[in-house]
Amino acid sequence: MNNVIDFIQVNRDRYLDELKALLAIPSISALPEHTGDVRRCAEWCGDEMGRIGLQNVELIETPGNPVVYGDWLGAPGAPTILFYGHYDVQPVDPLNLWESPPFEATIRDGEIFARGSADDKGQVFMHLKAIEAHLKQNGRLPVNMKLILEGEEEVGSANLDDFIRANKSRLAADVVVISDSAMFARGVPSICYGLRGLVYFQVDLRGSSTDLHSGSFGGALANPAFVLAQMIAQMKDRSGRIRIPGFYDDVRELTAEERAAWASLPFNEKTYRKDFGIPKLAGETGYTTLERTWARPTLEVNGLLSGFTGEGAKTVLPAVSMAKISMRLVPDQDPNKIADLFQKYVEENAPKTVEVKVTRMHGGKPWMTSFDNPFVQAAGRAIEKGFGRAPIFTREGGSIPVVSTFQEELGLPSVLFGVGLPDENAHAPNEKLDVGNFHNGIIASAILYDEVSRLKV
Ligand code: BES
Ligand code: ZN
Repeated sequence: MNNVIDFIQVNRDRYLDELKALLAIPSISALPEHTGDVRRCAEWCGDEMGRIGLQNVELIETPGNPVVYGDWLGAPGAPTILFYGHYDVQPVDPLNLWESPPFEATIRDGEIFARGSADDKGQVFMHLKAIEAHLKQNGRLPVNMKLILEGEEEVGSANLDDFIRANKSRLAADVVVISDSAMFARGVPSICYGLRGLVYFQVDLRGSSTDLHSGSFGGALANPAFVLAQMIAQMKDRSGRIRIPGFYDDVRELTAEERAAWASLPFNEKTYRKDFGIPKLAGETGYTTLERTWARPTLEVNGLLSGFTGEGAKTVLPAVSMAKISMRLVPDQDPNKIADLFQKYVEENAPKTVEVKVTRMHGGKPWMTSFDNPFVQAAGRAIEKGFGRAPIFTREGGSIPVVSTFQEELGLPSVLFGVGLPDENAHAPNEKLDVGNFHNGIIASAILYDEVSRLKV
């Protein structure tokens, strides 16, 4: 192992230069004008997999963006790791809030700033460099590895479940490794054992066939902006509980052990509030902030649009209003069931004064694993060696829907070892990855493969 770690130390600066090239490709999956860039990024990743010595590299077509596949299967009898990551990124707007251009990676104060630095290109690249170090130094990996990189994670992975179902034998493995999450805090590495699920909707209301003069017509009909605001306001009660009938039926309660463990984590609500400029924290009564974000379901408005929003004033009754509304789900809530409840609730509660259209968008199941599984323990040892500190076990509020697909379709456990930070600005301006975490993450990943190779499967 030492020669592998030496290689990683010596190549530290080269890794950053190469990562910059990957981060320069604007692979924004949400925007059709970037479809070509997304494909270019897939090709870049495939070329890189070949360069580092992976075999059977292939861009596998889907109805959407290609999946990049590569493997190294030269360790018969040893375990097989299936690595999953994504090469697509979120849009960059509002562009004017970026301190350096989102696709010109810039290092400031020990952080590399660029869209995708943390979510997820930087963390994918960390594993590619760990693999490269083994292959260049030893000509082999201690385990078998299969890698799949997806190009549609940020838009809901519409084609990934079908891809996995169609490639079950090709993807057969013993464990899935994913680095697409954050550490608990700077200097506090963690392993994530739970993710929330998601259901996402667009709600459109129409109050008239065209915008109307608010003087001539105001008072005669319902204003769809007002109706939508009222409907949204009704969705939660004063204690922050969601009022959709049946919403909480399948929620798995927190255990006393989890509550006690989380209460002892180094989390300071005041610092959290200050770090993110939040005047006062708010949420469901009876739960702490970590409990609210990791283990309780939520309903949030992601966007709201209606009427005149330009400069100055315009006296108008908008014809339409629109909201993007999503719910984060926890075990054992089922996205389909919750989606049906939400749709029914909105349709039944919309007043007759407006036309309502409810459109279901993407979603995914929540996921949770026990952390006494030997792969998680192996990752714990690797992280301790790479970061000089044993990881703590956390859940996360975000979603990686494919994790439950791996469990259900391939019967595979997942190990979520992320090296981002809570203030990494994922999905926001000035996304960044700590250079030290990236570097230690390469070392920990290289050690992880070695630790996994010692497990009996
Ligand atoms: N890297 C995130 C997932 C994540 C976020 C894990 C925070 C842990 C903490 C991933 O790229 C992401 O943003 N996922 C989407 C999924 C959705 C589009 C189905 C999310 O959580 O919104
Ligand atoms: Zn993301």
